[in-house]
Amino acid sequence: MKKLAIIGAQWGDEGKGKIVNYFSSHYDYIIRFSGGANAGHTIYYNGKKYVNHLLPSISPETESIGILSKGMALDLGQVIVELETMETDFSGISKRFIIDEEAFLVLPYHKEEDAILESMRKKPIGTTKKGMGPSFADKVSRENIRVCDLYDPETLYERLGNILYLKNKIYGDKLNCDVDAVYQGVLEQFATLRQMGVQFTSAASLYEELQSKKVLFEGAQGIMLDIDSGTYPYVTSSQTTAHGSFTVDMTLTEEDTVMGVVKAYTTRVGEGEFPTELPEEEGEVLRRLGNEFGATTGRNRRVGWLDLPQLRYAIRKSKLNSIVITKGDILNQYDEVKVCVAYEVDGKTVDMPFIANDFRRAKPIYKTLPGWNDVFDLNFLKYITFMEQELGVDVSYVSYGPKTEEMMSKKDYIMHIHG
Ligand code: IMP
Ligand code: MG
Repeated sequence: MKKLAIIGAQWGDEGKGKIVNYFSSHYDYIIRFSGGANAGHTIYYNGKKYVNHLLPSISPETESIGILSKGMALDLGQVIVELETMETDFSGISKRFIIDEEAFLVLPYHKEEDAILESMRKKPIGTTKKGMGPSFADKVSRENIRVCDLYDPETLYERLGNILYLKNKIYGDKLNCDVDAVYQGVLEQFATLRQMGVQFTSAASLYEELQSKKVLFEGAQGIMLDIDSGTYPYVTSSQTTAHGSFTVDMTLTEEDTVMGVVKAYTTRVGEGEFPTELPEEEGEVLRRLGNEFGATTGRNRRVGWLDLPQLRYAIRKSKLNSIVITKGDILNQYDEVKVCVAYEVDGKTVDMPFIANDFRRAKPIYKTLPGWNDVFDLNFLKYITFMEQELGVDVSYVSYGPKTEEMMSKKDYIMHIHG
């Protein structure tokens, strides 16, 4: 069965939640495969706004199932908070979520460590302080706990003791974490989730079942924040490209759709390179128009023009073969808009950087295009067509508002324009 992956093609916050929501009623399984509560997916059901950080965006109206896979780092307390909100409107929905027993946990001390490290860094990364870096670092240094460890409380207690023994040596008084409190807290959360009907299983055991089902992979963050391909070190700590889908032992092939979500302009939260960033005053205007404030931290998002070399890089890194453009409506009323068509790096013109370090030195070369008053104005279609020509990938959908229904296939969109 053909699979669909929905991936942020910039630095996150392209509007993925809404796009996943648009498609999710046609899919049997919605799988989150990376990140954790650092993500913020804003979606609307029946006109009501929900901001989920961990739960995959399943469709409440269908029987679709959400999987929180082992590519994620899970704060079980946060899963409970999100499920409780969903339960008030969709009773019994918790039973439609599966937590992969092989997923690693975010424990209270990871969030503490995230904040301590940020405060101690000479140059902070600007993390969301949700414990991502410390949890993934502990996974790699073999100092973390997985969901499956919660089945064996005795060993869990011993392992937590060993881990906190080490951490207390490293952090001393700065870390304020008690083994018993962590141990009891996480076991209570595990029990609560099971009571609520959440299923726990190894996602790998679903492999056969998934072969004959319609599967949607829900990306988090954006390609430019990928630990391996992004603007390191100003990145998140997990894989954000579509390759992360391997975490349920599945691969995406050329038959599958890897859809990049592209905002009609660019934003970034936190530190790091951003070639097309607008100067403060101009940036402030666009930030307000687009309501560009972080869904997770409330921080101001940095804003700038659309960046085609960056998108070419993203297409290459995540094998995008389809694009959905979002938030073109935010640029309504600009008399003209700028698009970065190439970079100047060390005096040379570069169409597409091959390594992320080039973004650090890139100076944008702009082309100015006429603006539009409405997304159904011919000039916006011209903007889309220009993008397609420059990127070599079709824009297949156009999203023009926060509501799920404010979206059309490009075919319908063109028909609508021509009346
Ligand atoms: P962390 O993922 O909290 O470690 O933060 C690392 C970087 O990724 C920071 O610049 C964050 O602002 C950024 N980041 C993490 N999650 C998101 C997201 O969902 N949208 C946009 N930026 C994010
Ligand atoms: Mg977001």
